[in-house]
Amino acid sequence: MKHIQKAKEFVKKELYGETTGHDYWHSLLVWRNAKNIGKTENADMLVVELAALLHDIGDWKISGGESTGAEKNRKFLEEIKIDEKRIQHILDIIEGLAFKGSIDKPLLSIEGQIVQDADRLEALGAIGIARAFASGQKFRQEIYNPDIKPAPHRNPEDYKKQYTGERKNTSINHFYEKLLFIKDLMNTEAAKKIAEERHLYMKQFLTRFYEEWEGKK
Ligand code: ADP
Ligand code: NI
Repeated sequence: MKHIQKAKEFVKKELYGETTGHDYWHSLLVWRNAKNIGKTENADMLVVELAALLHDIGDWKISGGESTGAEKNRKFLEEIKIDEKRIQHILDIIEGLAFKGSIDKPLLSIEGQIVQDADRLEALGAIGIARAFASGQKFRQEIYNPDIKPAPHRNPEDYKKQYTGERKNTSINHFYEKLLFIKDLMNTEAAKKIAEERHLYMKQFLTRFYEEWEGKK
């Protein structure tokens, strides 16, 4: 479909070569996940596919504060002549996804829930592991430090301190503070299944990591 092809080109232009896990390939994988999950849901797949492809344009972690993502996305969607109702829906989904972990986050439509699941799957499994360490580098975190204990149920304000440098964290801790909880956040049945399997793989990775750390393997 030509809209999707154009969206891929737009995302490639914007995100190709980004190095913290929000690159062009991540957008493509979220898109593929979303198409897959969406098969068994009754959803407007044009909205799902476009929102998946565009979801990380102008992410605050990339642009460093000033989010121009919504403006860029609107301009693009108008150019390819998507109708206004869908444009608004797509922008709402992407904005809703940005309220990560926030209690008063907006409710997502079924289309939004599919994209959220598709994006969350990327934080799990082998790809999730790779992204955790890539992101860790961005936050100047160590891989692992047994002196720094994970704090799984810290409040959101405290949690954010790792991103401002007020609290040193490690990438291994991120598994216990976030990644191992993600499987229980999935909206759709299709995503739950994939998440369970990816979750197990991460647990195996952690077991193996400590075995190597302790000289057992
Ligand atoms: P997305 O916008 O694609 O959902 P996020 O910006 O939430 O992704 O996070 C990108 C990746 O960075 C995720 O896979 C997440 O696990 C990882 N990440 C976020 N915070 C940390 C952290 N403190 N340590 C290690 N990895 C992190
Ligand atoms: Ni993403």
